[in-house]
Amino acid sequence: MRTTRRTTRLSDQDHYNTQTIGDTMSDYEDDIDMEDAPRATSEVLFSAANTDSKGKRSAANLPVEAEDTLPWVEKYRPASLADVSGHQDILATINKFVDTNRLPHLLLYGPPGTGKTSTVLALARRIYGNRNMRQMVLELNASDDRGIDVVREQIKTFSSTKQIFAGSFDKTQNDSIANFKLIILDEADAMTSVAQMALRRIMEKYTANTRFCIIANYTHKLSPALLSRCTRFRFSPLKEVDIRRLVDKVIDEERVNIAADATDSLVTLSKGDMRRALNVLQACHASSTPLNIPGQPVQDSKDVRHDLITLETIYDCIAAPHPADISNIMQTLLTTANVGSCLNTINTLKRTKGLALADILTALGEQLAELEVPTQTRVAWLEGLAEIEYRLSGGGSETIQTGGLVGVVRNGVGMMERAGA
Ligand SMILES: Nc1ncnc2c1ncn2[C@@H]1O[C@H](COP(=O)(O)OP(=O)(O)OP(=O)(O)O)[C@@H](O)[C@H]1O
Ligand SMILES: [Mg+2]
Repeated sequence: MRTTRRTTRLSDQDHYNTQTIGDTMSDYEDDIDMEDAPRATSEVLFSAANTDSKGKRSAANLPVEAEDTLPWVEKYRPASLADVSGHQDILATINKFVDTNRLPHLLLYGPPGTGKTSTVLALARRIYGNRNMRQMVLELNASDDRGIDVVREQIKTFSSTKQIFAGSFDKTQNDSIANFKLIILDEADAMTSVAQMALRRIMEKYTANTRFCIIANYTHKLSPALLSRCTRFRFSPLKEVDIRRLVDKVIDEERVNIAADATDSLVTLSKGDMRRALNVLQACHASSTPLNIPGQPVQDSKDVRHDLITLETIYDCIAAPHPADISNIMQTLLTTANVGSCLNTINTLKRTKGLALADILTALGEQLAELEVPTQTRVAWLEGLAEIEYRLSGGGSETIQTGGLVGVVRNGVGMMERAGA
């Protein structure tokens, strides 16, 4: 196997390390011939600006003038740790780490839209202040290449250099200047396993200069050795009160015309994902804006009267079946012995309301779970619905699986009737 040797831009020490990594770890991910590859001509910059070669701006660094046209998820991204909704325990712990200047390597993981990226960006802002973030933070996410090359070059170079300006910042700004740099590896579950391997030693070796913040959705895609080097925080789906707090603020500031019960279902339907809540709210707000009549002067956005966003608007936007339709389906299935007419009712509803069986299945499962029924029936329903969902996701036909659904629910009802008789 041919190993890559690059000596031109690295110091002797770095050269030695590059070789060590290259020799001890298999290079199958980057077994390219560097002799033929074009050599990079620019110098390595010891700063986060390093990642900016493609004109990318970090999320923390959006231009002020863009604020009006930004999607609400960006416009209302928490600027400070105090603005992050929920996760009080995690925030308190992280704040304590920073106060005592003892930040460990962090690993934040959890489902999308729960505030992981926002928390880390707010943390970086808290440690370095807005002005110094650029020099002290290297932010890499899935939009950057993060194979072994980046670990060896960018991350290693950034972490192996001390901050030469330390102490010279304007202390009147109340920025506590930490003497370490921060490397944020967002969406780290997308990093190649070889790159994760190479990170292990770098993390240990440069702890004096650098802290890593690793963000991921799933920890099982991260190397266990990497996990054990970090303090882990799980970002669970946000509670409804926490989502409501921000949703109410946005409704207020953007003057969204929304009914109270619509807000309730928006908060419930977003299932702990704040990003989803804000996106749906913005889409509904846009659809409630009346169209400009051709030939008439365009109204100032402040004077536009928006239509009321109702429960239906929210369900239509999320493409979730309306609870009334699901109740209708459930009642028919529970009370009609004739399987043909059950099928007819469901198919008609699917056609007229444009419902997908997968969505009906989820909503029906929730409603059936609330019924008081004998255990035997409940088990039959749970098992049957799970089976249909599995077959459907594997490409099973909608028509046949709809029949399967009717069969499953009717079987459960039959069990109940036989037990009662
Ligand atoms: N806890 C929160 N407090 C306030 N706003 C939040 C919170 N969580 C998410 N948001 C909103 O949702 C948007 C997306 O959040 P963020 O990028 O932090 O999610 P994430 O957890 O990194 O998700 P992903 O795993 O998809 O990257 C933010 O811009 C913000 O508007
Ligand atoms: Mg993120």
